[in-house]
Amino acid sequence: MTRILISGGTVVSATGATPADVLLDREQVAALLAPGAGEAFTVDETVDASGCYVVPGGVDVHTHMQMPFGGTEASDTFETGTRAAAWGGTTTIVDFVVQRTGEVVEEALAAWHAKAEGNCAVDYGFHMILGGVDENSLAAMDRLVEHEGITSFKLFMAYPGVFYSDDGQVLRAMQKARANGATVMMHAENGIAIDVLVQQAVARGDTDPVFHGITRPEAMESEATHRAIRLAEVAGDTPLYIVHLSASRALEEIARARSEGRNVFAETCPQYLYLTLEDHLGAGGPGSFEGAKYACSTPLRSKHENHARDLWRGLRTDDLAVVSTDHCPFCFKDQKQLGRGDFSKIPNGMGGVEHRMDLVHQGVADGHLSLARWVETCSTTPARMFGMYPRKGVLAPGSDADVVVYDPAARSRISAATHHMNLDYSAFEGFELSGGVRTVFSRGTKILDRGTFTGRPGHGRYVRRGLSQYLR
Ligand code: URP
Ligand code: ZN
Ligand code: ZN
Ligand code: ZN
Repeated sequence: MTRILISGGTVVSATGATPADVLLDREQVAALLAPGAGEAFTVDETVDASGCYVVPGGVDVHTHMQMPFGGTEASDTFETGTRAAAWGGTTTIVDFVVQRTGEVVEEALAAWHAKAEGNCAVDYGFHMILGGVDENSLAAMDRLVEHEGITSFKLFMAYPGVFYSDDGQVLRAMQKARANGATVMMHAENGIAIDVLVQQAVARGDTDPVFHGITRPEAMESEATHRAIRLAEVAGDTPLYIVHLSASRALEEIARARSEGRNVFAETCPQYLYLTLEDHLGAGGPGSFEGAKYACSTPLRSKHENHARDLWRGLRTDDLAVVSTDHCPFCFKDQKQLGRGDFSKIPNGMGGVEHRMDLVHQGVADGHLSLARWVETCSTTPARMFGMYPRKGVLAPGSDADVVVYDPAARSRISAATHHMNLDYSAFEGFELSGGVRTVFSRGTKILDRGTFTGRPGHGRYVRRGLSQYLR
């Protein structure tokens, strides 16, 4: 197909909703037209979007396909994970390359390119995890920004002995990023203190999955968030993006920094908006291993503390700018079991790349968020934040024709029996959804339509990203 008209729908953007026809020409959006005006064009196909929203494809800037972690490897490959993304209306992912202490950054990058190339159903970019900040990796940051389209680097204040950076390493990486324009993404949890709590819990015999959450208290997230903000300030106001923010007081730190005018941003993820320490990580009660399905870091928070309410508010006020998934799936039967009898050995992570657009749209249906904010937090802002706009994140002439036709009247129920992730359970099992993806275009190619996947591995291309468009 070269020319496609999507007619009769309501185009939703970050600034509002308006009835319009959308004309696609090969890989790009050619025009937004007054309703009915598309009839004047000769096209190869007309897609009837009556009653539907027409939105820019979702941009999920936090995924871990086939990441080696926790003694195993995330269960979705780039092939299965990007196909599942397509099913959920996500047409761009940004995944994390992993560099460990002593490893050569460019070699790690080459290894991730080899995993992804030829396998992705949708477009993909990379961030770089710096697991070992030293002279070599610091120097590599400049080269990645300049030559490789990698403009964001994730550091960890958590996971001592794995990905952990001390404050001095964090500061040096932030100084480097301030100079080359990159964004520092931070896993903000005090890993040194958490490790003490973990060892004490295991020594006491408190080994159930719920102790994964109890030993990672929200105070250790808000403390680390505060520290990251002040280190970024000292580094000269380095753009700082806090990943997987889960807790009210961490959000307060973001709000304070933003009201000071700092380059501080944050994302949350659907699991923190819907799931809790008691009902999910503590599922089944004492002695049960069911909660292992919900072990991720930062952990799910207590339902008695209104975190989810505050996170929805943060999404409304823009203190939370982005919803990503932190998609890091591990099967229950053969991977989560590594932590049976010792919660500290449960591979950390949850799968969700398929359901982000639906679960945030559910927030619209439930009255937490406007339609425009749905598109802004799931597509437009992630594209701008990570240097892909206006190619991604917007339907405008010249943008990539990544388009989702979304039916707000559709009804469905999330289940592992019907999802498309390579994962033997769903953290959102049984969730009822108002709304659903009907048709998905990736660069003008129809890759999903009314329950049939029509894409292919290798259609997705690597996206070289520019600098964040939120710099001041
Ligand atoms: O539990 C999580 N979040 N696993 C993925 C790695 C990370 O910290 O994002
Ligand atoms: Zn993390
Ligand atoms: Zn992650
Ligand atoms: Zn498995």
